[in-house]
Amino acid sequence: MPFNYRHSVLCADEVALDEIAERFGTPCFVYSAASIAASYAEFEDALKGRAARICYSVKANSNLAVLALLAKLGAGFDIVSGGELARVLAAGGDARSTLFSGVGKSEAEIFFALKKGIGCINIESEAELDRVQAVAASLRLRAPVALRVNPDIDANTHPYISTGLRHTKFGVPHAEAEGLYRKAADMPNIDVVGIGCHIGSLLLEAAPFIAATERLLLLVDRLDSAGIRLRHVDVGGGIGIRYKDESPQPPEAFVRGVLAALGRRPHTVIFDPGRSIVGNAGLLLTRVEYLKPGFLVVDAGMNDLIRPALYGAWHEVQAVRESASTTGVYDIVGPVCESADFLAKGRPLAARAGDLLAVMSCGAYAMAMSSNYNTRPRAPEVLVRDGHALLVRRRESVEELFALERRPD
Ligand code: LLP
Repeated sequence: MPFNYRHSVLCADEVALDEIAERFGTPCFVYSAASIAASYAEFEDALKGRAARICYSVKANSNLAVLALLAKLGAGFDIVSGGELARVLAAGGDARSTLFSGVGKSEAEIFFALKKGIGCINIESEAELDRVQAVAASLRLRAPVALRVNPDIDANTHPYISTGLRHTKFGVPHAEAEGLYRKAADMPNIDVVGIGCHIGSLLLEAAPFIAATERLLLLVDRLDSAGIRLRHVDVGGGIGIRYKDESPQPPEAFVRGVLAALGRRPHTVIFDPGRSIVGNAGLLLTRVEYLKPGFLVVDAGMNDLIRPALYGAWHEVQAVRESASTTGVYDIVGPVCESADFLAKGRPLAARAGDLLAVMSCGAYAMAMSSNYNTRPRAPEVLVRDGHALLVRRRESVEELFALERRPD
């Protein structure tokens, strides 16, 4: 566990969070490099001895320091935009071990990815396949592609982050995939290299994930008999973490099930985890501005962490200074002018104005989904590594927020 009390002060590894708040101000995201590396190692260990790749899903936390750390550990990447590819490259990642997913890739993004030598484009529709063929032809190269297949399996998660059911916009329907593979295999500038799927995020159980893999493998075998030999099977991400009191199955259970399903097939297996690598390696440090009856008004808001407002998500909140008693039960709310601007509701805490609180499990989909709503500068990000707190993104200034705007004459 990266965050523990020492002498009654919550620390990130061995660095006290009140010192981090003093140095960098609040609100502030704090990440533990050791915790990210340990989560990555869980996947690596479970996959040992098998042709495999772990492609970290950049959307979860795309800070260059996080990407650089994972690139050094040997990770590949899963991206959903040209912007994310630019980040991977700036962080020292390799385009060849990067997968490009997403339903709406623009021509410019496909062009950029192919020029940079992307490892695989995950095709999500026939129209996209045609577009990739055309761009690859203009570049006189063969585009490595996989089809993202929608297996029509319920991931049993929040509907906003469920992606593997037929009615969602994601992937090619299972029943149509074979026909599209045949078309792709005949295209001059397409190199069919794999198959992919991703049924949703925050899965607490491996069963639907494994069922999806089994459905993919039916297709892999059928394609094999038709002479279309794939090199990799990308089973997606979505492995859940504990936010409150859930008991998610660990990555090892997902990996074990997938490897058992694959059996002796020779394919390279790819996982693209995001949250399970970084989610519990980060927190959001915030200060209490005011006490109001029933409320703690803090200096972080829904623009910093939108998950509670968007999904009704639970994030644990801990006082940075440990206390044996509580002073009340509070809704923890931010300064943004929306009633949805809450970080937590009904939490017993000991708090006074000026106290520091830590909103836990903010390593994934927190900073990455933040905004400047209400002209609020984005919070800085701090990486704790080897006992040192390093500023890996500084706080934005207010002037920067309107620097791109012009008053017309
Ligand atoms: N691969 C693909 C194709 C994906 O679409 C995603 C996430 C992942 C991998 C990584 O999933 P993970 O291992 O992080 O669950 N904003 C939401 C989560 C959205 C996930 C979107 N896709 C949240 O805050 O819960």
